[in-house]
Amino acid sequence: MVAIEFTEIGKLFSSDVRDGTAVSIRGWVYRIRKLKDKVFFLLRDSSGVIQCVVDKNEEGIWEKVEPLTIESSVTVKGVLKYDKRAPGGREVHVKDIMVVHYAEPFPITEDAVRSESEYLLDVRHLWIRSSYMTSILKIRHTVFEAIHEYFRKNGFYEVQAPMFITAAVEGGATLFQVDYFGRKGVYLTQSSQFYLEALIYALEKVYTIAPSFRAEKSRSRRHLSEFWHAEAEVAWYSLKDILRIEEELVAYIIKKVVDEREKELKTLGRNVDILIKESELPFYRITYDEALEILKRKGFEVEWGDDFGADEERALVSEFDKPVFVIGFPEACKAFYHRNDPERPEVTLSADLLAPEGYGEIIGGGERIYDKDELVKKIKRFGLDPKDYEWYIDLRRYGSVPHSGFGLGVDRLVMWICGLKHIRDAIPFPRDIRRVYP
Ligand code: 4AD
Ligand code: MG
Repeated sequence: MVAIEFTEIGKLFSSDVRDGTAVSIRGWVYRIRKLKDKVFFLLRDSSGVIQCVVDKNEEGIWEKVEPLTIESSVTVKGVLKYDKRAPGGREVHVKDIMVVHYAEPFPITEDAVRSESEYLLDVRHLWIRSSYMTSILKIRHTVFEAIHEYFRKNGFYEVQAPMFITAAVEGGATLFQVDYFGRKGVYLTQSSQFYLEALIYALEKVYTIAPSFRAEKSRSRRHLSEFWHAEAEVAWYSLKDILRIEEELVAYIIKKVVDEREKELKTLGRNVDILIKESELPFYRITYDEALEILKRKGFEVEWGDDFGADEERALVSEFDKPVFVIGFPEACKAFYHRNDPERPEVTLSADLLAPEGYGEIIGGGERIYDKDELVKKIKRFGLDPKDYEWYIDLRRYGSVPHSGFGLGVDRLVMWICGLKHIRDAIPFPRDIRRVYP
């Protein structure tokens, strides 16, 4: 038996595939139009979609094509024809077809799609086949690739941290407790940061891409209970140094997506020129105090020391056409590990990066406390127990150095790049307070 070579459907649209070429393709039936003496169906694979035409006179084929259903899987042999009437200007005249599986009636209707209903989340395992989701998934793929590329090109080692941990990084309110062989006080990690801090003493510049878990009790368009977190930590780096890495990383990711995923961005209706403009370096830098002034001017009732909610963030970024760093949050706004500014101890050497167009905070980071006594005091000041953080404090006992790091919410970044209304669409199988299925 001779193995058949199948061509990717996307490749059939390249200029070197001439009119009249014999082709073999395979995929899933995307749309069907049945006429009296002709059947048109769109065939989809991971690379593209092409129209296939079956003529009633084609013996042995018509009977197989007549009962075809949406999402049936087929292999097709045929002849590629240039035809202006076909989508993309080309179609395949079918000479032979094998139906691998006649699909049952596909449950996702045009109505469900139009109404963007919850139902699409119930059938997410099927909805991911749509051109909408496929475009997002391809962009997401490129985002992950770009993150790895950026870090590896810049001398970072990739590391892995555990998902089962024993103490909160980002505060107790969003911890997921797990039953770990009956042992109490074991949780899913909120951030790999503390482990990255340990690893800089071996590798100096480290990064990881991993899930983080937050028991976010409110429903929001920007929160998942399981999200993908790209985190980095660097020995010897100051706040200023780490902000440079953060903005370079974001600009690098967007450039790669714009270069390689223009088609997908277009499918999503995303304006590429806006993205290019939004990723020009440097990003804006304002202090927390300046942010507060802007908000007050806009009529918000905010006091020094308040954290910013989604509304405040949106109002703030509406002043800017690129991402903006808000630098120097008051101590109470940020987790205990942030280093306080020695010149102004009431503020931390921290910064959030806010995405434009109201997509919110995409990065949090800054300098870490590297003095042991300072850390222990702050842990106590935050009402926490130093015993829970023994190994973390230990890092300040053996050759401690200044260091900085950050965490990028990858799903939020994808949400912004794709221009999505809801973070749930940025990830194939979202998890939030209401949803752990499918
Ligand atoms: O600001 P966060 O909580 O910072 C940390 O976890 C640090 N330990 C990171 C570090 O310095 N290594 O989270 C970082 C980013 C946020 O800016 C946001 O983009 C994203 O993670 N994020 C979430 N994304 C989706 N759903 C959630 N529930 C998220 N919580 C945070
Ligand atoms: Mg944050």
